[in-house]
Amino acid sequence: MGEKVFYVTTPIYYPSDKLHIGHALTTTMADTLARYKRLRGYDVYFLTGSDEHGQKIQRKAREAGLQPLAYVDRIVATFQELWRRLNISYNDFIRTTEPRHMRVVQELLQRIYDQGDIYKSTYEGWYCTPCETFWTERQLVDGNCPDCGRPVELVKEESYFFRLSKYAERLLQYIKDHPDFILPVTRRNEMISFIEGGLEDLCISRTTFDWGIPVPMDPRHVIYVWFDALTNYISALGYGAADDHLFRKYWPAAVHLVGKDIVRFHTIIWPIILMAAGIEPPRQVFGHGWLLVDGGKMSKSKGNVVDPMVLIDRYGADAIRYFLLREMPYGADGYYSEDALINRYNTDLANDFGNLLSRTMAMIERFNGGVIDAPAASEPLDEELKAIAAEVPGEVDAALGNFEFARALAAIWRLVNRANKYIEETAPWALAKDPAKKQRLQTVLYNLAETIRQVTIMVGPFMPGVPARVWEQLGLQDTPAALSWESLAGWGGLPAGTRVRRGEPLFPRIETNAQEGEEPVTVAETPAAPTAEKATPAADRKEATVEEITIDEFARINLRVAEVLAAEKVANADKLLKLEVKVGDERRTVVAGIARYYQPEELVGKKVVIVANLKPAKLRGIVSQGMVLAAVDGETLSLVTPERAVQDGAQVR
Ligand code: ME8
Ligand code: MG
Repeated sequence: MGEKVFYVTTPIYYPSDKLHIGHALTTTMADTLARYKRLRGYDVYFLTGSDEHGQKIQRKAREAGLQPLAYVDRIVATFQELWRRLNISYNDFIRTTEPRHMRVVQELLQRIYDQGDIYKSTYEGWYCTPCETFWTERQLVDGNCPDCGRPVELVKEESYFFRLSKYAERLLQYIKDHPDFILPVTRRNEMISFIEGGLEDLCISRTTFDWGIPVPMDPRHVIYVWFDALTNYISALGYGAADDHLFRKYWPAAVHLVGKDIVRFHTIIWPIILMAAGIEPPRQVFGHGWLLVDGGKMSKSKGNVVDPMVLIDRYGADAIRYFLLREMPYGADGYYSEDALINRYNTDLANDFGNLLSRTMAMIERFNGGVIDAPAASEPLDEELKAIAAEVPGEVDAALGNFEFARALAAIWRLVNRANKYIEETAPWALAKDPAKKQRLQTVLYNLAETIRQVTIMVGPFMPGVPARVWEQLGLQDTPAALSWESLAGWGGLPAGTRVRRGEPLFPRIETNAQEGEEPVTVAETPAAPTAEKATPAADRKEATVEEITIDEFARINLRVAEVLAAEKVANADKLLKLEVKVGDERRTVVAGIARYYQPEELVGKKVVIVANLKPAKLRGIVSQGMVLAAVDGETLSLVTPERAVQDGAQVR
């Protein structure tokens, strides 16, 4: 009694084709919930699988010159490979062609037949083969399938029917009594009006194809796909088997995660099948929106299918998972594009989180010998950081309880960004110069490392590849107590005296080439300290290798004062600003890697110093005619500006 169990499922996908990035959305959501609940001490069972019967698969196999089972075997192997690469921690993978599943489907159908809720009649209706769905005349839209818009065909044949109509009232009452059964509420309202519009009995068998589970009392018929498919959620738990301990333990603590296209099947047909069989309905069904690409829903026929394997190869599983979970608005459709993915990656992962870690590691190494010392007295800035840290775990929990993945991540990023601001405010590089501030410095460094520890625990369910890499850098791999969710309560779970080991950047920045048609490539993240890009000369100077030059050599560099006339951010490049400058009679465009240090507005009217005879270079498609000089000190960057009023164009010697 009282054991916390959590049973979560994904749809079982059709192995008619390989999966696309849209399918990865549901499974990533389910995996995140499963991991989160495990972290919170739940006994979790996470099921996914494949839905292998039906006319479409039979046809596809024939086209491929294979037996249906041989055909689906191949495709199911690609599903499992995808889930492995995406770090999906399912407990079981059910295939509807397995005997353990087929037995339960037949027994369930026989039982419902025996009690009189299944009868034989003539089916007449409209069938959409790609969707595997029958429609009534009035459901059609302009005579086509209301889901996919494709033509439907009129079918007339002897079939078995399930008395859905008999249970409509009971289901409606159940939905009304359980306000959280169908989420989000928009889907719930849709289902309520659908049921109130009247339920027709459901055709559950076909004689026009034979790739399916035979109807037990009439084997000329095979069971039509939804009765077969939905039953997977209990057949995988061994329902009705000699050993049914999984069913007894986990049912009905189920959350079925599905796309909005199949909410109807999960909230109407499935609960009614269960009611008829005397089994409790699932606790919740969450229907998320679709991931759209330019031109709408992904489909093979439109040729706009995005292959998740390619994206994982290119950006890594954690980044793909992050994108899917962060970008999908709650309950609504979201958009995929590689630009949006790269933008999320560079902004949230490389800059905000990745740089927080690498800057902190670099400062602990440089300023405190690589050791995280115990904090001393707390100051108001520290309290602000801790106050946010104290709020975020509760926000994450509440958001995930409501399937609001994006909101949960946004809450975590509020802490990440507060920590980045804390670095600017406390300026550890300045503290490091004053031996009297040693304790303050240690406190600041401790608080940063502690924030990273807390953030890492919370992002683990979303990006399961992250924690091990951070623990290694923070030196926490052997202190399990510091890695638990419980350790987020209060401040200071990070053991003082820990030795850090700076590692590879977590998320190396992706540099995109603005030239059209070029594939984006992955390059290393700029090192932790001064982060100006190539456009800023100071960042490139290596202190250790200062070589003497003659005055003539120096004279070759034409340094001039320039006035900034306009400044703006460069799209998709969060470090770059584009400056319009005036140098005497001349106007020039200069791209500078200073966006993280200066707002465009504060630059206008400023006099800066530029290298005026530098070969023009193209940055993000913009030709930069010169570069701006800046001084770099620890984490601070300061533009070089003439100390007295001088005309733009003046020589700097
Ligand atoms: O419907 N955006 O299988 P299926 C978001 N076998 N999610 C998407 C998506 C997109 N563009 N495209 C697909 C079936 N999905 C049945 C299910 S369950 C008992 C039987 C996801 O291969 C979404 O979860 O067509 C959708 O419900 C599911 O894939 C459909 O997968
Ligand atoms: Mg589908």
